[in-house]
Amino acid sequence: MSVPAIRVSDLHKTYGKTTALSGLDFEIPAGQVTGFLGPNGAGKTTSFRSLLGLTRADSGEMEILGIPSPGGLREITKRVGVIIEEPGLIRALTGRVNLLVAADTLGFGHERIPELLEFVGLTADANRRVSEYSKGMRQRLALAAAMIGDPDLLILDEPLDGLDPAGQHVFKARLRGLAEEGKTVVVSSHNLSDIEALADYVVVIDRGRLVTQGPLSSMLDGGGTRVEVVEIDQAVAALSSAGLEVTRADDHLRVATEDGSAIVRVLAGAGIYPSVVRPARSSLEQVFLGMTGNDS
Ligand SMILES: Nc1ncnc2c1ncn2[C@@H]1O[C@H](COP(=O)(O)OP(=O)(O)OP(=O)(O)O)[C@@H](O)[C@H]1O
Ligand SMILES: [Mg+2]
Repeated sequence: MSVPAIRVSDLHKTYGKTTALSGLDFEIPAGQVTGFLGPNGAGKTTSFRSLLGLTRADSGEMEILGIPSPGGLREITKRVGVIIEEPGLIRALTGRVNLLVAADTLGFGHERIPELLEFVGLTADANRRVSEYSKGMRQRLALAAAMIGDPDLLILDEPLDGLDPAGQHVFKARLRGLAEEGKTVVVSSHNLSDIEALADYVVVIDRGRLVTQGPLSSMLDGGGTRVEVVEIDQAVAALSSAGLEVTRADDHLRVATEDGSAIVRVLAGAGIYPSVVRPARSSLEQVFLGMTGNDS
């Protein structure tokens, strides 16, 4: 594997008596979109702030693009674009002037500004003051500002927050396009479905620790259909002899097909009437719902 875009090892951070990170480990692969998932208070923002030297971790090791952080932050900041919490936009200035200021502050030229305004769909609004922008427009302008130095890595804390469904769709497509150009994009969210529709790779944290990480595809395995039935043995026999693959769990069956009506047909043919037939959850969804206390 090439050098990971981000590597974090045994990271600890407390704020007074509050433990935000408690031995956090994770790795984010380069050239993909990674979803950094966790419920409110899991430590996502604190992880990003620690990585970028915006707060000081108590202990642990961090690398960004193979460069140690915070030691190498001067070099790192030239290659990383960031949106963390309220993006640092100047509301009294227009969108275009905000990008000019961002470029000057970071020591980059102005030549990419028209292209970036186009990329985030703000060309027509570029000469309006940011104070007149909607939240979604401010998010898109913040993305343009984060991209001003053509960074290899984008770190975006909850970038989809406050966008309407159409805005989210466009934003996700933009981020996917960046990964297809070979950039690395890291997006935090407390919303599983945002990440399922966007990411190639997922890191899930909770209470300042890693819960699971890996390719999204591997976490979506294990679908199929969940069947709850009283006559478990007879149901297994009927479904198996109909050529369906059945796995027994404690109090239910998992059948390796998404075709619920086929299952019902087979069971009814054997005089068995299931109380529940529904799509089984992905393993990622199970992990996430278990963590957020919504495991129903
Ligand atoms: N500046 C701070 N002072 C004190 N405690 C803090 C501070 N920032 C974060 N915390 C605490 O650290 C923990 C992790 O917070 P963090 O903001 O990193 O979570 P998060 O995963 O980003 O959550 P959210 O989804 O709500 O944005 C929480 O318990 C929070 O209360
Ligand atoms: Mg946060």
